[in-house]
Amino acid sequence: MSHYSIKHIEEYWQIYRKSVRNPEAFWEEIAEEHFLWRKKWDNVLSWDFKKPEVKWFEGAQLNITENCIDRHIYTRGNKTAILFEPNNPNEPAEHITYKKLHERVCRMANVLKSKGIKKGDRVCIYLPMIPELAVAVLACARIGAIHSVVFAGFSSTALATRINDSECKLVITSDGSYRGPKTIDLKGIVDDALETCPCVEKVLVVKRIQSEIQMKEGRDEWLQPLLNEAYSDCVPEIMNAEDPLFILYTSGSTGKPKGMVHTTGGYMVYTAYTFKNIFQYREEDVYWCTADIGWITGHSYIVYGPLANGATTVMFEGVPSYPDYGRFWDIVQKHKVNQFYTAPTAIRALAKEGVEILEKYDLSSIKLLGTVGEPINEEAWHWYDDNIGKRKSPIVDTWWQTETGGVMISPIPYVTPTKPTYATLPFPGIQPALMNELGEEIKGNQVEGRLCIKFPWPSIARTIWGDHNRYKDTYFSAFENMYFTGDGALRDEVGYYRITGRVDDVIIVSGHNLGTAPIEDAINEHPAVAESAIVGYPHDIKGNALFGYVILKDTGESRNHDNLRKEINQIITEQIGPIAKLDQIQFTSDLPKTRSGKIMRRILRKIASNDISNLGDTSTLLNPEVVEKIIDQVIVKA
Ligand code: WTA
Repeated sequence: MSHYSIKHIEEYWQIYRKSVRNPEAFWEEIAEEHFLWRKKWDNVLSWDFKKPEVKWFEGAQLNITENCIDRHIYTRGNKTAILFEPNNPNEPAEHITYKKLHERVCRMANVLKSKGIKKGDRVCIYLPMIPELAVAVLACARIGAIHSVVFAGFSSTALATRINDSECKLVITSDGSYRGPKTIDLKGIVDDALETCPCVEKVLVVKRIQSEIQMKEGRDEWLQPLLNEAYSDCVPEIMNAEDPLFILYTSGSTGKPKGMVHTTGGYMVYTAYTFKNIFQYREEDVYWCTADIGWITGHSYIVYGPLANGATTVMFEGVPSYPDYGRFWDIVQKHKVNQFYTAPTAIRALAKEGVEILEKYDLSSIKLLGTVGEPINEEAWHWYDDNIGKRKSPIVDTWWQTETGGVMISPIPYVTPTKPTYATLPFPGIQPALMNELGEEIKGNQVEGRLCIKFPWPSIARTIWGDHNRYKDTYFSAFENMYFTGDGALRDEVGYYRITGRVDDVIIVSGHNLGTAPIEDAINEHPAVAESAIVGYPHDIKGNALFGYVILKDTGESRNHDNLRKEINQIITEQIGPIAKLDQIQFTSDLPKTRSGKIMRRILRKIASNDISNLGDTSTLLNPEVVEKIIDQVIVKA
């Protein structure tokens, strides 16, 4: 027996020890018993973190959509696979059964083929949270095309960068999207992006908001008529376990976004196994993850993990505040949601609305709550536990990353006793290590350090698209023979982990990772700006907010600072997207720098956080006097 579903804490420890003693045997057993392979592997694992190179289930052949769709048709063909809840609460929800999903994915796959898409080609998907998004993802996987989903909140410049980096041949988008009471002109954004994307040959357009849009002759086509004509079955492409499944971009602290590459076999095994255990999914359950498929959480825990387990997975098009802040709870009640998985920023925003609104809804279907994306503060944890879970539904605080593909540290509900703000214990197969600044592992409990992982797991990203050196530098160079996460963590007296946050220049705002350098680059494009530095500071709802220190070129000129602030945020919106807009902008004449010319962000962070009691050592600064000046400007103003 491979203990596919863990039931007791003793069993967890037993399985965990087994997974560390003999990882190959551990994962082989799971892979063998719970998935459909066209050919078994020759070798379970080969790895070398120095190169770095990791291969799981080498030589095996499969198609992930056979695992996520075809094999369920015989046993649960009429079960809802995807439960689509539209933006407008008066529009009926759509139940897409496994049978119907099969047909829709096959049709879409055949359309892609008819447009010349072959195994290994990259397809960019820029869609709102409508069923076609999940269908397009799976259709790519069906034919071995590599999908690159770009979150539909990114700007045209950000979209173009991502399309060009992976040289996508085709883009799937829609005429527009609904966002609460508003509509967004997605097709217009795609048109702007494609001005600078010579690699794109075709654009397929889903009709969603019925808006008037421009269709470029020879390039753009409406998708629906093509789907209607396409054949409803499509033989799956047989993939090698190590063939790329998708690319997903994530922000780095410097430079352009990193196209993380995930491969087929290991990703499938890990997302399916973690989904089953972390959400304790049972056959009749309705599971809802509120993330967008534009992020890794949506890839792994809306699409692949749930579908590989034959689950019913909810896809919600809208926002938590429309038509009012009761919307999430309305959906929970309406669809009798059993597992509810969201982000701390959403929990804080909902908590702010008070508990009266909750009284209108029956939340008794909820058995389990989840959180992901950033550290959850104690207050939000208790609010969630008291008011949504009614103190009877365990909270799984799941720590993981785009790069890790699946959840790495998390309680297993009903098994691991939870502790507020702690992600608790590593998942079987995951070997965390805390490192000190000298590069040594800190053993024992009640310690704090940089979080690394010592041993590969099946869904670790294999590379950064087109830049293996950057992959090595970013994740495998800080500590020898270790994958470095970029996060800090502490381990308590019983060995539970608490993630304390990023230790690099990535700032998590409302659960979105933002690198400081790309935002600074955008600001510096403003003709009046000489230099800038971005730091994060604590924010009640977003977790972190962005504070920008901006040096203007011509300080003599009296420009209207409010207009400049608007212009700077406008540039950021154009280059990256509205999620990266600054909450506060302080114009200043200088920035604190070290003798080697590096901006001392630690000090700027403290000032932005209004925490100047202990600024630490400023003697190494080239210009210590600017610190006082900036404090005067910022603190007086506040
Ligand atoms: C942070 C999201 C604390 C962390 C799946 C990580 C968390 C980054 C948690 C990855 C958590 C994610 N507790 N911090 N439960 N989950 N993080 O790539 O800093 O969008 O490195 O993946 O989010 O964000 P990403």
